[in-house]
This record gives sequence, structure tokens and C-alpha cells, in this order.
Amino acid sequence: MGSFCSLLVLVFSALGSSAPTGTYSPSSSVATTSTTTGPRASLAPAVIGYLLLDPVTGPAKLQALAANATRLPLTRLVVSFARPDMVYIPQSRTLKHVGLGLATNTSSDYGFELLANATRQLQAGGVEVFLSVGGWNYNCFAFLYMKYSIAYFPVGPNAWKLSMYGLGSMSGCTEANQYCYVCEPPSEGTKLSDFSIFPEPSFSPTWKQAQAFVASGTGGDVPVWHPELVGGASFTDGSVTTTVPGSDLWSRVRRDPYQDLVYLAKDLNLDGIDLDYEEFWHADTFRSGTGLGPFRLDQTVYKYSAIAYDLILNIKATYPTCKLSVAASAAGAWNGPWWGGNLKGLWYFSNLWYPSITDFMMTGPNAGGINAMTYDLSKNPTFHECPSPTLPCSLAGQVAFYLDTYHTNISPSVRFGLEVGTPAYPDAMHDSVSQLPLTKQALNEITSSVSVLGGSGAIVWELYKDQGVADVNASVVLQTLCRGVFGGGMERCLGVIPRF
Ligand SMILES: *[C@@H]1O[C@H](CO)[C@@H](O)[C@H](O)[C@H]1NC(C)=O
Ligand SMILES: *[C@@H]1O[C@H](CO)[C@@H](O)[C@H](O)[C@H]1NC(C)=O
Ligand SMILES: *[C@@H]1O[C@H](CO)[C@@H](O)[C@H](O)[C@H]1NC(C)=O
Ligand SMILES: *[C@@H]1O[C@H](CO)[C@@H](O)[C@H](O)[C@H]1NC(C)=O
Repeated sequence: MGSFCSLLVLVFSALGSSAPTGTYSPSSSVATTSTTTGPRASLAPAVIGYLLLDPVTGPAKLQALAANATRLPLTRLVVSFARPDMVYIPQSRTLKHVGLGLATNTSSDYGFELLANATRQLQAGGVEVFLSVGGWNYNCFAFLYMKYSIAYFPVGPNAWKLSMYGLGSMSGCTEANQYCYVCEPPSEGTKLSDFSIFPEPSFSPTWKQAQAFVASGTGGDVPVWHPELVGGASFTDGSVTTTVPGSDLWSRVRRDPYQDLVYLAKDLNLDGIDLDYEEFWHADTFRSGTGLGPFRLDQTVYKYSAIAYDLILNIKATYPTCKLSVAASAAGAWNGPWWGGNLKGLWYFSNLWYPSITDFMMTGPNAGGINAMTYDLSKNPTFHECPSPTLPCSLAGQVAFYLDTYHTNISPSVRFGLEVGTPAYPDAMHDSVSQLPLTKQALNEITSSVSVLGGSGAIVWELYKDQGVADVNASVVLQTLCRGVFGGGMERCLGVIPRF
């Protein structure tokens, strides 16, 4: 498996990567009227920590967390990442084709019992356990991302990758250099075979039902589906033939990975599933509009909504107590002109056209929550990455801005997100001065100014991530959030992330 060090990366290849100068006015484009169908303030408060697994340290980390469950400064653990093109046969009790990376093939069930046992212990200690599907690497189609998200624009925040690895031109980005290392830098040691995309299992009855649901509610372009994008298949675009990232096993054995994910959650007795959908390449490849934009990302609203609805149908049918949460892009609830790259407005339009999907995740027994990944933000003003000139570009200022778009347009219960230490974006090699690390000062500003108490808590990426240049570690970040959400009275807020 890849090392997956920089997952959940937002990579702002544009709040306009090529915004025409003078025409871009973010502050006036923020919707001020709520589009919710009713109050959605019922989401339970939670402090949520992601655990990124790898076969070397993953088992020990999971066991240390499980052994210390009652003393963890969090109330939900999100185990990550399952692959979106997984295969899991009900009752098979193996993670062999799940892509979680918890154990190697030296463990006959690839870590299934280990995870099932840890889940039991964590739940007994008052911690919910979710499994996340996706993450950056399982969402990245290198060739299309390079071509339509980066090379297409004359300038943009990631254009330097083409200069550095491709002699400044798209033709220099080849399979040999992983299309100019647009998905992960060479230092990650990732291979093209470590990436995947979210499939469209067109033969699946519940996927078909999800497509019909999407088609019946659309408020934009006619949906165009892409079931031909199967892992391993040849894909020709212009003069280039490339290979679709990911596995074709699900297609060969005719299984719906979203249905299998629900079967897996059930066999592990998990509390919920977390959908981490970040297909920037899809939005940019299948955008509508002309020239340098602005564009619309209707097709990606449809694909995301169909995936969520397929999960919902299967949860209702086979595991009705299962919760569903989503890790949403920071700019996802922002309604305004879009120039590509950041899934701006995806959750805004999904909520507008398919409010029942939002309702399932935000109210009632299955509500895992919409959690905004308000991190990997840049303070570099060159590419309009600071959302509003009238607001501070500090981490606290930007977290407050993006969270407010969610609270105004979707629900006051949407949670915000923090990333421990040095962010993955902007790249330290390229623009380290524009990074916004999570310092103690930033943490205090955020927890005192952002509506921590008015909202329903926060997500933290990642429990064992190094604090880097910052002066607070994961334990302190979680303790601070825990006290903010639950007050001083909850004993677990004094706990730490255990050594392993
Ligand atoms: C386990 O994986 C290694 C490396 O991929 C491979 O060489 C080996 O044959 C596999 N062992 C089994 C039992 O599948
Ligand atoms: C899981 O728990 C069961 C029952 O306590 C135990 O017998 C088994 O060895 C455990 N398995 C692992 C992999 O921890
Ligand atoms: C985190 O920081 C606190 C405060 O500086 C320190 O006490 C603790 O040992 C650090 N490490 C871990 C793993 O929590
Ligand atoms: C975690 O649990 C282990 C095993 O019960 C224990 O030895 C250790 O002290 C605990 N660590 C913390 C930080 O509570």
C-alpha cells in the first residue's frame, strides 16, 4: 500500500485558478439565504479523530487506542481508508479486497478480527467507530487531474508541478513520472497502482435506483454517467491513452462496492460509514462552461449524490442502525462562480436538489454529520486562495468563513475540521510561507471565535500526525476541542492519544 501521508488534502487548485482579474468577488457571491428544508440542528456533538492505518504501525495504534478507550479525548474514531472499488462478500470476515492497509497478507484475514475486536473495546469505552471510504489517494485520477485541473489553465497554484517534472508542458507528464506527480510528490513513494477512483457499478440494482433518483431531482444539466471508467481499463482522451486507476475486481465479479461497504460495516458492527469524496479530476474533466470559466460541476454533484444515495439505500435495507457521515470540501457549501479544482458548491447543490440526502446525514438515527475539511488552506493571495479580502487570511479567519457558508446554506450543525501540525497544502517545497500550521494561537483563536459550541464539534486529521512546525500535538488539539464541545466536566477531555 502507499504511504498515504497526505490524504484528505484539499489542494486548492483554484477558488479561481485562473480567475479573470477584476471580475471575482467572493464576498458578494456567498448566498445569504438558507436553502435548508427545515431546522437541522439536531446533530449530536462529537469530537472526531481520524486514524490512518498502515500495516507496520496500524495494528499497534489501533490496539493502544482500544485499550485506552475510556481515556481518549474524543468520542468518535474514524478508521481510514477503505477503497471505493472494494469487494467484500457478506460474512467473509476478511479485509483482503478492502484496501484498508491494516495488515499485510501475513494475517490470514488481513486484520478483520483485529478491527472487529478493537471496535468492540472502543464502543464499550464510549467511543463510536466509523470506517472512512476514499481519502485523497483513492480519489485521484492522475492523468485527468493533471490535464483538466492543472495543465488546462495558463497559470494556477499547481502549475509549478508541470515546470518541475514535465519541462513546463503537459506532454512531459507521462506514466513514468506519474503525470508530473500531481497526486502525490515523489517523496511519498506512491505508485500509480496505489490510486483509485469511485466506480459507477451500472449493473447494480441499487446504483440504478440511485441514478433514477438523481435524474428525477436534477436542477441542472442532464446527467451523463461514466460506467466505462473501470480500474485497469484503457482510457483514451485526445492523443493519450492511459489506464484508469484502481481495481476491476468488483466489475469482474459484478458486485456493487457501496453495497459491500455496508455489508462490511455490518459484519464489523461499526457505528457508521464516512464518505470521503474528493474527485477534483471528475469535476474538472466533466465540467460545463467554456473557455477559462466560470464553470458548473453538475455532473460531479450527480455522481456524489448517487454514491451517497446508493449507500443510504443499502443502509436502510441491510444495516438500518448504521450512521452515515461525509468529509466535505471546505468550499463545498459556497455558492458562487467556480473555476475548478476545489469542489466549490458541490454540497450546496447536492443539498439544493437532493435535500433528503442531507437530512439522512444530519437528522435522525442515521445522522453521522456533514464534516467540513476546513484545512490545507493557503494564505497566498495570488490564486484567490484567501476567500475574502475583507476577512483575515489567518487559519481562524478562513475556518470561520468556510464554516459559515455551511451553517448558512446547509445546517448550523455542520462540523469543522482541523489538521494537526504542518498542512499538506500548499506544498512545503514550493510555498511554505503560505502554509497555515495549526499553532496553539490558531487553535485558541478558532475555539474562541468559531461557533464550536453552536455547531456540533469537529474532526481532526490525524491522531498520530507529527506536530511539525506547530507547537501543539494531536492530544492537545483534541483536549481543547473536547473541552469546548463538552465543557470541563467530561473526564475523557483530560486524556491523551496513547503511545503505541
Ligand atoms: C504476500 O505478499 C507478498 C508481496 O506482495 C507476496 O510476495 C507473497 O506471495 C504474498 N503471500 C501470500 C501468502 O499471499
Ligand atoms: C479477538 O477477540 C477474541 C475474543 O476475545 C479472541 O479470541 C481473538 O484472539 C481476538 N483476535 C484478535 C486478532 O485480536
Ligand atoms: C503533547 O503535548 C503535551 C503538552 O506539551 C505533552 O504533555 C505530551 O506529552 C505531548 N505528547 C503526546 C503524545 O501527547
Ligand atoms: C493505554 O493502555 C495501556 C494498556 O492498558 C496502558 O499500559 C497505558 O498506560 C495506557 N496509556 C495511556 C496513555 O493511558
